[in-house]
Amino acid sequence: MKGQISALTVMFQPPLASNALVRTFVQGVMRIAPPVHSPLAPWDLNLVLSVPQDSPFEPLHELPLLSLSQKVAFLVAITSVGRVSELAALQVAVSGLILDKIVKETNPNIVLELGTYCGYSTVRIARLLKPGIRLLTVEFNPAYAAVAKQIIEFAGFKDKVQILEGNTHDIIPQLKKKYEVDTLDFVFVDHWKEKYLPDIQLLEKCRLLRKGSVILADNVICPGAPDFLKYVRTCGHYDCTNYPSFLEYMNEKDALEKAVFRG
Ligand SMILES: C[S@@+](CC[C@H](N)C(=O)[O-])C[C@H]1O[C@@H](n2cnc3c(N)ncnc32)[C@H](O)[C@@H]1O
Repeated sequence: MKGQISALTVMFQPPLASNALVRTFVQGVMRIAPPVHSPLAPWDLNLVLSVPQDSPFEPLHELPLLSLSQKVAFLVAITSVGRVSELAALQVAVSGLILDKIVKETNPNIVLELGTYCGYSTVRIARLLKPGIRLLTVEFNPAYAAVAKQIIEFAGFKDKVQILEGNTHDIIPQLKKKYEVDTLDFVFVDHWKEKYLPDIQLLEKCRLLRKGSVILADNVICPGAPDFLKYVRTCGHYDCTNYPSFLEYMNEKDALEKAVFRG
């Protein structure tokens, strides 16, 4: 981890290691003295760092120091997650804590995630799953899928996680036959917001939900998925709970919605 931190620090100006936030974070992680898996999975730092610099993301050198520190802390946290027993480093986002809580309560045997991006929530969920439990995560952007693959492998969750590269609209109908899914225990919905409703209805149509299947949808207020919220709350097939949160880095009010399928 020391190597990664210095590599990251060298790439950024001004040096992040001197920032108080980053220093506290690094000192905290170092104190944990994580057990190291050997041999280490290969880690293509250049690939991982190149994607967040391309459109639609702002070039890293234009970011204010605070956001940059958070991004670096995030990268270090995500890459060390498989190596630490105490995950204080990840407990920064309210939505992440809610996700942890619902995953633990649900204790799923099979999980589907819609929207992988770079694998942050994937790793976050995977670390809570017992050996042998499967997590399928769908991402249609090949560059993001490539980064997520690196991060998931580096974090040590290659055996639990399968990245399904493609559009959720095409992948969901293939889950039963091609990916041997019977029904899903837990679905984390975190892709484009206008897809929440059609994809939930597609899961229903493909008979992938059973009585008690838990759907957890992020960012239902900001950017918001009003048609999805209206549907799960009024169609009569779900028991819903709302969990207020904040949009990371922006301090905007947001929420996650848990919808438990009644069967
Ligand atoms: C908000 S990001 C996911 C963040 C991720 N769950 C996390 O917390 O780290 C949304 C991702 O969903 C992907 N996506 C959006 N619509 C999709 C679709 N219909 N099929 C597959 N991937 C999709 C985007 O490319 C993007 O990477």
